[in-house]
Amino acid sequence: MQTYRKRCLITAGPTREFFDPARFISNPSTGKMGYALAKSAQIAGWHVDLVSGPVNISRPDGVTVHKVVTGQEMYAACKPLFEKCDILIMCAAVADLRPKNKSPEKLKKSGISMKIEFERVIDILKTLSQSKRHQTLVGFAAETEKVEKYARKKLVEKNLDWIVANQVGADGGGFADDRNTVMMIPKEGDVTTLGPALKTQIADQIITILDQSG
Ligand code: C5P
Repeated sequence: MQTYRKRCLITAGPTREFFDPARFISNPSTGKMGYALAKSAQIAGWHVDLVSGPVNISRPDGVTVHKVVTGQEMYAACKPLFEKCDILIMCAAVADLRPKNKSPEKLKKSGISMKIEFERVIDILKTLSQSKRHQTLVGFAAETEKVEKYARKKLVEKNLDWIVANQVGADGGGFADDRNTVMMIPKEGDVTTLGPALKTQIADQIITILDQSG
């Protein structure tokens, strides 16, 4: 039987929240960062479960991929895997809101209300962190301003060990790029800035830091 250095759960990509079978709320995440992390972790000798929203990236070799669409599906896929993992890297851009009502049929344009009522999607990371035992928890924070300040707030609120923060542009810039610059902020200790570099290189550096930190 193969032995692994660590067992990790990584999430990637966007989630979608439909209000009819043809229309949904989502965001510009492409999944590149999460898939790069999955590949780096697999190469580092970790067992990798990758829970992925809808993306156009092929399955990385040696990684178990669990495909999901909605936030609730992502939570349901992550829950049992979280209990067994040593590290959770929550890289997915979970859509925060979902329409309160979903029509079973495609709505006619003339029948779509100009006011859609929303409700909150479960905060997967915060919920899982409440049952944290031995696991290391790593969150991501995409911010348009005061990146470190807001990221640190999330680190505390979601009871994380690390948060990886990056700045995104008002037009979604940063999401689809091949390159990135991030700040890796630990619960205690110094911040490390990674990049500007390819997301694949940043992924290697993140996995190396996590590997060495216990
Ligand atoms: O609160 P915010 O969405 O900015 O936090 C980002 C972090 O929380 C990311 O790691 C993201 O994957 C996670 N998240 C989550 N469930 C949500 C929203 C965000 O797990 N509903």
